[in-house]
Amino acid sequence: MDNYGYFDDKNKEYVVTDPKTPIKWTNYVGTLNFGGLMDCTGGALICKQDPALNRMTKYIAQMPQSDFKGSTIYLRVKSAAGTTVFSPFLTPTLKPLDSFECRVGLSYSRWVVEAYGIRAKITAFVPQSAEVLLQDIQITNISGEPLSVDVIPVYEFSHFDALKQLVNADWVPQTMTVKAHKETTGHVILEQYAFMKRDVAVNYVTCDRAVDSFDGDRRQFLGDNEFGSWANPLSLANEHLSNSECDRGDNIAALMIKLGNLQANETQRTITQLGQSTTVTSARPSIDKYRDHKAVDAALTELADFWSNYLETMVVDTPDEAMNSMLNIHNPRQCHTTKNWSRYLSLYQLGYGARGIGFRDSSQDLIGVMSHMPEEAREFLERLLSVQNPDGSAMHQYFPLTMEANEGDSREEEHMPKYYGDDHLWAVLACAQYIKETGNVDFLDKEIPFYSKTLPPKERELGTVYEHLKRALAFTFNNVGQHKLPLLGFADWNDTVNLPAGAESLFVANLFGTAIKELVNITEFINDNATTDLLNHYHQTMKQRVNDTAWDGDWWVRYYTAEGEPIGSHKNTYGSIYTNGQSWPVMSGFSEGERRTQSLQSVYDKLNTQYGIKLSGPGYNGYDDNLGGVSTYPPGAKENGGIFLHSNPWVMIAETIEGNGDRAFEYYNQINPAFHNDNMKVFESEPYCYPQNILGDEHKQFGMGRNAWLSGTASWTYVAGTQYILGIRPTINGLIVDPCIPKDWPSFSVTRKFRGATYEIHVKNPNKRNKGVTVLSLNGERIEGTLIPIQPSGTHTITVTL
Ligand code: GLC
Repeated sequence: MDNYGYFDDKNKEYVVTDPKTPIKWTNYVGTLNFGGLMDCTGGALICKQDPALNRMTKYIAQMPQSDFKGSTIYLRVKSAAGTTVFSPFLTPTLKPLDSFECRVGLSYSRWVVEAYGIRAKITAFVPQSAEVLLQDIQITNISGEPLSVDVIPVYEFSHFDALKQLVNADWVPQTMTVKAHKETTGHVILEQYAFMKRDVAVNYVTCDRAVDSFDGDRRQFLGDNEFGSWANPLSLANEHLSNSECDRGDNIAALMIKLGNLQANETQRTITQLGQSTTVTSARPSIDKYRDHKAVDAALTELADFWSNYLETMVVDTPDEAMNSMLNIHNPRQCHTTKNWSRYLSLYQLGYGARGIGFRDSSQDLIGVMSHMPEEAREFLERLLSVQNPDGSAMHQYFPLTMEANEGDSREEEHMPKYYGDDHLWAVLACAQYIKETGNVDFLDKEIPFYSKTLPPKERELGTVYEHLKRALAFTFNNVGQHKLPLLGFADWNDTVNLPAGAESLFVANLFGTAIKELVNITEFINDNATTDLLNHYHQTMKQRVNDTAWDGDWWVRYYTAEGEPIGSHKNTYGSIYTNGQSWPVMSGFSEGERRTQSLQSVYDKLNTQYGIKLSGPGYNGYDDNLGGVSTYPPGAKENGGIFLHSNPWVMIAETIEGNGDRAFEYYNQINPAFHNDNMKVFESEPYCYPQNILGDEHKQFGMGRNAWLSGTASWTYVAGTQYILGIRPTINGLIVDPCIPKDWPSFSVTRKFRGATYEIHVKNPNKRNKGVTVLSLNGERIEGTLIPIQPSGTHTITVTL
């Protein structure tokens, strides 16, 4: 079997049993506030608040797996037979291990490894309420003989300005400093900073025990002018490290922790800390706290409690185990990850500042966490709205530490429009979702500044959230091209189709229609008739234009160029059909009847593969300046005919609107990464989260997944699965239960928390239907329709028969 591990749903973990995964597999610890990613061989990329502007560890994503990557632990075992130095992570010593487990858990990773007479259990995590990475290291002597064990954790530091670390090898090393603080107890704190941060932000590494010795200078630790290597640091041939500080150069923190002699079956525990604070003195309370094992245990329990609470928001029990596992554990977990990191920091989006927090991306991510952490999502939304422009369009991204925003890739193309046609509209969807989940319509009145590059925040124009949303819609309605369809700007959701100015986007037209539908529910609820009328006028007008201009015969056109030529039409040899061109008109309500049925069938016939639906096809074959980014990829890769997973759940949603539950579920199932667990020769990517892209069938490596974790696939597949297939949708007036499931599902149940009450929902499907509620009752009383009005706190039983 081509697998590297298995799912342990009982413990809500994926267990990697072979460290030599095809590519680096990662997990996330902490949040954007403090945290980062850890790979399965112990590498750690940690930052505080901003990976570009405040990076802590030096993890170069492009280095081979076998290299040292920002962090590791060496173990030195001395027995009667001799001394062995090895890493329980395999990397970087590459000494063989007897057994290996990396348990990819909910915001923690736990390794359980046996080798050279010991069992090492190492748990890495960031406590909920602290800014420190803890590594809880438990060593058991399983050799049957006495052994002496030394533990040597090592971190390598990056300059806080992550890009400078890579581009300036003069200034950076001149500023990098490590100082040792030795305590009378024998404890040591290694303090690290770039000189200009000495009094404001220092990193530190310490542990719970008195240490034997340490090194702060990489040259000393590796030895022999760095002809000693990470695989074999020469200093570990000596009894003690050299107690080097570092006044310039490559900064590390290595501690020699001697656990002493362990009798057979004896366990010793030590806990390391990597943190950042204003000064070492200000870090003192946290340092002292986490030197106490009880505090570490409590922090781990607190983290587990957070996750149980989080996941209890919605628990599903369907006839499909793989769907249950995704919807109950891995998918909401991935949503939480994208909510934290947007597209900023992963092994694919490297966090050097080219990206930041994306307006479009994060607006969508928030939809995936809205039922679990609505108030946190609202705060995030407020930050996003603060980078919306006064004209209603939005800045493409911002840096969380400075709240400075920019125009994304369009910055680099002088002659191209400086806005994206879609960005601002996503915020309407996210705000509507917040209001539907919480009922908090007062949010519409909250005043938030519009963005300005030149004015200081206090002097910026203020507008209520409502005003922000209305301006977003007005911007699209008023910025139209020759068919009176919305202008594309630099790009729409598909970042890579960059047409010369004047092009029109059908995607934007349909996102606009969808956003209007979302907002109209709310304007009706607050009895704002004037706005309701205006929005309905927008909707009808755009619907008419789309239907008059964009039907291509069997599917919908995707763009018009400035010259009025269609893209995504049977007239095109390449790129003749686009998936998003078909799904979004269904969501907007612009595509109806025959056209709806036919266009969805065209997606199935022309774009579906065993690994998912391709974004478009056939792939463009050669670079074309008039198409831009999409043509930089060979056919079958990424947006150029690849399976860009993010767009798959939109087709699932469209199929449920069409009423085709079998097909919606087929689409759902075929992209479930768990199904690739035994297909790793092809898929290669982590089976416990959705990747962003899978190579399409025009590519030789068809089926290969890349860009794990940070993808809008997470939030939208969660929405498609829970709100459309299972059909449990929050609305301003209550919870809708309107499933669209496979015919052969006899029943399913869901527990959903909503506005302070718990709903136990049982759906029966005795007549083998896809869709259509025939009987719905609330606590034994029959209700007409599919809407359960808001209920008082407590548990309510809903039974539904299709
Ligand atoms: C990436 C970007 C996202 C874009 C998508 C399609 O995932 O983060 O903003 O919509 O690619 O181009």
